[in-house]
Amino acid sequence: MSELDDRSLASRTGLPPELLYLRDAFPRDRWTSPLDQTAAFWLQMHLGFREHQAHMDGLVGRWRSDGDAAALHRQLIPALQSFLQHLDGHHRVESGQYFPMMRRIEPKIGVGIDLLDRDHDAIHGTLEAMFRDGLAFHQAVTARAPDLADKANRLSDRIAGNARPLLRHLEDEEDIVIPLIQLRGLQG
Ligand SMILES: [Fe+2]
Ligand SMILES: [Fe+2]
Repeated sequence: MSELDDRSLASRTGLPPELLYLRDAFPRDRWTSPLDQTAAFWLQMHLGFREHQAHMDGLVGRWRSDGDAAALHRQLIPALQSFLQHLDGHHRVESGQYFPMMRRIEPKIGVGIDLLDRDHDAIHGTLEAMFRDGLAFHQAVTARAPDLADKANRLSDRIAGNARPLLRHLEDEEDIVIPLIQLRGLQG
């Protein structure tokens, strides 16, 4: 059980060594062009999520220093909606289409794919909570509710708390997926 805990998204600091053999065979310093198109697109999508999270972190930071809830609402809600939609869609395609294919192509990495699927479940729980907190903040702004700042803080904490696990997942997923696509192809 402790081994499982070490591998949970909340606690791990990287993939366990036995799941890094693909990345060892195709290390990050070789992830330059010409990269397989799907691998390159995958990295580009991940870069987009990193930038999107950083953008929301920035809005939250500004709110914490200037207390301008109207500005937070105007800028954060559309950013959050787009983030939730795109990340949820990305995970659906990965878990629904690419991961099953990768399990067939490289059965040895099945344990790693299990780990990534569990990450998606964990992140999905956070995305649902972010949606609920975003909606509560939006409703509080619309109603000019007295607990508006509480709702803004709650959403802000949720967004800030998403950063570390999301970045962990993106990096660990890349360490499996990018070399797998590059070395084995996706035709299997
Ligand atoms: Fe993923
Ligand atoms: Fe991904």
